Amino acid sequence: MARKKITVVGAGNVGATTAQRLVDKELGDVVMIDIIEGLPQGKSLDLSQAAPIEGYDSRLVGSNGYKESADSDIVVITSGLPRKPGMSRDDLLRTNAGIVGSVTAEVMKYSRNPILIIVSNPLDAMCHVAMKQSGLPKERVIGMAGVLDSARMRYFIADSLNVSVENVTAFVLGGHGDTMVPLPRYSTVAGIPLPDLLPKDKIDQIVERTRNGGAEIVSLLKTGSAYYAPAAAVVEMVEAILKDKKKILPCAAYLEGEYGINRLFVGVPAKLGERGIEEIIQINMTTDERTALQRSAAAVQELVDVLGR
Ligand SMILES: NC(=O)c1ccc[n+]([C@@H]2O[C@H](COP(=O)([O-])OP(=O)(O)OC[C@H]3O[C@@H](n4cnc5c(N)ncnc54)[C@H](O)[C@@H]3O)[C@@H](O)[C@H]2O)c1
Repeated sequence: MARKKITVVGAGNVGATTAQRLVDKELGDVVMIDIIEGLPQGKSLDLSQAAPIEGYDSRLVGSNGYKESADSDIVVITSGLPRKPGMSRDDLLRTNAGIVGSVTAEVMKYSRNPILIIVSNPLDAMCHVAMKQSGLPKERVIGMAGVLDSARMRYFIADSLNVSVENVTAFVLGGHGDTMVPLPRYSTVAGIPLPDLLPKDKIDQIVERTRNGGAEIVSLLKTGSAYYAPAAAVVEMVEAILKDKKKILPCAAYLEGEYGINRLFVGVPAKLGERGIEEIIQINMTTDERTALQRSAAAVQELVDVLGR
């Protein structure tokens, strides 16, 4: 069986770490693309030289053009500027929209029917740009945010209860921004609902820290933003698709009426398999939760409206 082909656009922190985790897991051959001359080539060569030690046979190629990406099964788009301290995701909107739009156009010249996983911020708005530019059906354009946000929440829960991260599931919906909607009621530890294990004030702290998860790391790093956990989140999504796992993961998906939201990318639980998003799972929500999701969707809509102007 021929190996799958995964292109990662942007060979910066998130892109290169994603490439590393992809080949570590031998999920396919990897093409890294960046505008900086030598960067994707150098990182690909370096990762290729780790292969004999780590024992992977995945091939890596770095390029400043798109020819090498031809016939990719999945294209991960991480190109763009990361957030700087004090800079909101919204500040990045126009610059990154230009980058994601032009990258998507190049990708589509060489791959007929790829699945796009968008990482560049502001995430939900960039998914719109990529879907519009690519002309791909909605199930083939997926945003990475919820897997990362819920992993952060899982870590904070596990740390606070001193239990294995493997015992913890957590649920974060909505846009990838300050209005994201962590749902403690749907978060569990070994199947036990979180509200049965932690007092409300402790849960509120975890929710707040999850909401600020990205900003906390930006303020510590001072230059650049998080990339280990974001890359791990992308790779979980790639694996679910390439192995047709039918895994339910929180993803930014294009909604057409689900959750009362129309024609907007918003984070919801989605089943990932070989066709991309194969189903959007709808859960019951309280009035407060639904209101928070609507507020989050409205924040995404504002960004999309700015782009439409
Ligand atoms: N969705 C999420 O949860 C999430 C998490 C982390 C980071 N991000 C976002 O991912 C993006 C990348 O973050 P990073 O830390 O890897 O940044 P980075 O600066 O380390 O890497 C970005 C790379 O993109 C390249 N690039 C810029 N314009 C390009 C173009 N037109 N074509 C090809 N490559 C181009 C740059 O040269 C750079 O190497 C940022 O927008 C960041 O905000 C999103």
